[in-house]
Amino acid sequence: MKTLLLLPGDGIGPEVIAEVRKVVAALMAKGGLELTLVERPFGGTSYDLHGTPLTAEAEAVALASDAVLMGAVGGPKWAGVGRDVRPEAGLLRLRKSMDVFANLRPAICFDALADASTLKHEVVAGLDIMIVRELCGGVYFGQPRGIETLPDGQRRGFDTQVYTTSEIERIARVAFELARSRDNRVTSAEKSNVMESGLFWREVVTDIHARDYADVKLDHMLADNCSMQLVRNPKQFDVILTDNLFGDLLSDQASMATGSIGLLPSAALGVAGKPGLYEPIHGSAPDIAGQGVANPVAAILSFEMALRWSLERPDLADRLYGAVEAALNGGARTRDLGGKLSTEEMGAAILAQL
Ligand code: IPM
Ligand code: MG
Repeated sequence: MKTLLLLPGDGIGPEVIAEVRKVVAALMAKGGLELTLVERPFGGTSYDLHGTPLTAEAEAVALASDAVLMGAVGGPKWAGVGRDVRPEAGLLRLRKSMDVFANLRPAICFDALADASTLKHEVVAGLDIMIVRELCGGVYFGQPRGIETLPDGQRRGFDTQVYTTSEIERIARVAFELARSRDNRVTSAEKSNVMESGLFWREVVTDIHARDYADVKLDHMLADNCSMQLVRNPKQFDVILTDNLFGDLLSDQASMATGSIGLLPSAALGVAGKPGLYEPIHGSAPDIAGQGVANPVAAILSFEMALRWSLERPDLADRLYGAVEAALNGGARTRDLGGKLSTEEMGAAILAQL
């Protein structure tokens, strides 16, 4: 029996995870899914209860689970709390301790939504790209970092962008392997024209490509150009391989080509056999939290990715994906997609197809 840990978190997190719970129940009742659900507070919600965004107990439960599904973390309520206990710090600690270095962020434009994007129909129709973002290194974790006061009384803030050979190699391997199961093309994005770590990234990717993945087509692109190309002609990409910070930016940007950031799931994977961490790429959306209008699709599709990558039920993943597609084809739309459905109604439309 597999175990799934739910971390609803903050803002719209609990609202979208509630819809996932219904999907899980339906697949257990009718799809032969056997799953033990566990749940823990996370982020600001955990801070309010326990003074920390991630308790040692919740962290241990995560490491012992087969998959972890998070809703969202953060919000203005916790803007003033200490840096080390802010909700986002809990998420970063969880990613690091699970060592889920490979963040798969698909950006797929459903046919039914090709008009929902702010980009033109022909630019986004049929879009299917995969952003492979390094998730446990780079400037998110690099030392030293801090804010200090200089002798002249000025203050100075600094972070460190840093990558080792093995960190780049392991994420590049994931991108190349994935490309082989897709259109066999990888675009590696960095700023090798400005950053030493970017130049090093390019060298290591070039190296491992020549050594082990020469059959895959590899291009290098400066990250700023990549961001421009994502709105100019996003369909030119198959797999985009990039670091933690550029991946954060490029995946938000790519989401808009699909119609809404409320649609996009992600999977963070470590070494084989270890639990994966699944998260919608949207945030806690404090502006709409508590109103029951958030789009649950990203969370439901994050569970779909968990079925595929951690829970060994690709058959149910296909079924769930089909149900989301059918609901969208049937006209189901939350507010972010220009529709009127509530979170629960959107969940119900997907369940009806399931
Ligand atoms: C994301 C989010 C996180 C990140 C935040 C909440 C720490 O923006 O998953 O993209 O920056 O990685
Ligand atoms: Mg982000």
